[in-house]
Amino acid sequence: MSETLIRGRVLTFHAEPQGMDDHASYSYEEDGAVLVRGGIIAACGDYEDVAAKAGPEHLVIDHRPHLILPGFIDAHAHFPQMQVIASYGAELLDWLNNYTFPEELRFDDLQHGRRVARLFLDELLRNGTTTVAAYCSVHKTSAEAFFAEAHARNMCVVAGKVMMDRNAPDGLTDTPQSSYDDSFALIEEWHGRGRLNYAVTPRFAITSTPEQMEMAGALMRAFPDLHMQTHLSENHAEIAFTQTLYPDAPDYTGIYEHYGLLGPKALFGHCIHLSEREADVLSDSGSVAVFCPTSNLFLGSGLFDYQRYRGRAKPLRIASATDVGGGTSYSMLRTMDEGYKVIALNGEKLNPLASFWQITRGNAQALSLAERVGTLEEGTDADLVVLNARATPVMALRMERADSLAEELFVLQTLGDDRAVVETYVAGEAVKSAL
Ligand code: GUN
Ligand code: ZN
Repeated sequence: MSETLIRGRVLTFHAEPQGMDDHASYSYEEDGAVLVRGGIIAACGDYEDVAAKAGPEHLVIDHRPHLILPGFIDAHAHFPQMQVIASYGAELLDWLNNYTFPEELRFDDLQHGRRVARLFLDELLRNGTTTVAAYCSVHKTSAEAFFAEAHARNMCVVAGKVMMDRNAPDGLTDTPQSSYDDSFALIEEWHGRGRLNYAVTPRFAITSTPEQMEMAGALMRAFPDLHMQTHLSENHAEIAFTQTLYPDAPDYTGIYEHYGLLGPKALFGHCIHLSEREADVLSDSGSVAVFCPTSNLFLGSGLFDYQRYRGRAKPLRIASATDVGGGTSYSMLRTMDEGYKVIALNGEKLNPLASFWQITRGNAQALSLAERVGTLEEGTDADLVVLNARATPVMALRMERADSLAEELFVLQTLGDDRAVVETYVAGEAVKSAL
């Protein structure tokens, strides 16, 4: 079996850092290495110790002085929105109707879906993101294109065909029955194949009738280990419209609750304007609130209160995500830079260790994938990112004044983007340099 010894400064998190001095929350090796055998991390730590475990035939890749971390994880993105990103001047509902739905209509064409799936995964890997929870379009073929492309690259992804049967143009709706049947067939074909995971994906309550929400619940009962992903409480007009469509529900979250869609593998994009009751039921059910800072700022949706949600008596599980194409960057570094600013506007600061925990192990935990990704622990999948905090003249100059790991991480987050990503590995294979 092939062996690769990847040398550099190695950083991996064990738990959420509670402050800048929480050194127990991570392991850092100044002269470190990761030994990869058959796509799996066979050893990680001090270079001499790890090198001693390598067989006689191993390949060495020396990334010194760069920093090796687990690959980044993006917990919410829309692959059919690559040509929607950077669309001017609208809030959520107009943005969907004027830009997003017309673009998603094109994904009834399998060739178009294949092309964009390829370009989307290229872009994630260019940015050091090795796992994504992705929305496809309503068309079954878009999910087939996405899964086929991710599978060919041996990537660990979560994805699903969007279910939507109203309040969208002809050609972009399914029916309760067809959404059930298409999702069912996709689950049988793709879920558990290689590193692929299926997510039941009702777009949001506005575009699903009660009959379709029943079908989403039925799918979750039929396949209880699946993820579920949807949108929740992003924008005031969205919330008001939703309440007119489900007048009997106590609130927006209560709709998903009623149809059995809450739980530890349920991912709710945005969650900006939650009441205390909604936050309580999300917390009680172990559901995940997904923070999408570039999107929330770009669409003017509001400020996600990360620290309040983490610090409340019933804390929320939180993930972070790009939400491309409402979001404006494919980079999780850019995403956490904007996230830092949102949290600052709420009067708090997110320390850089916690930030890098969030986009690696934190998001892996939120996606219930921490046994396999988001870590450099032995026996897990060798998805890695290699970062250079001196990638640009501006970064190199700033780094002359940085003298701690936390400061270096903060420079990477604040000034970094895909240029700071030296290499990305998927299951031990270098993929960025091969793009
Ligand atoms: N709500 C329903 N669909 C979408 C979408 O595609 N993007 C965002 N940001 N919010 C949504
Ligand atoms: Zn979204």
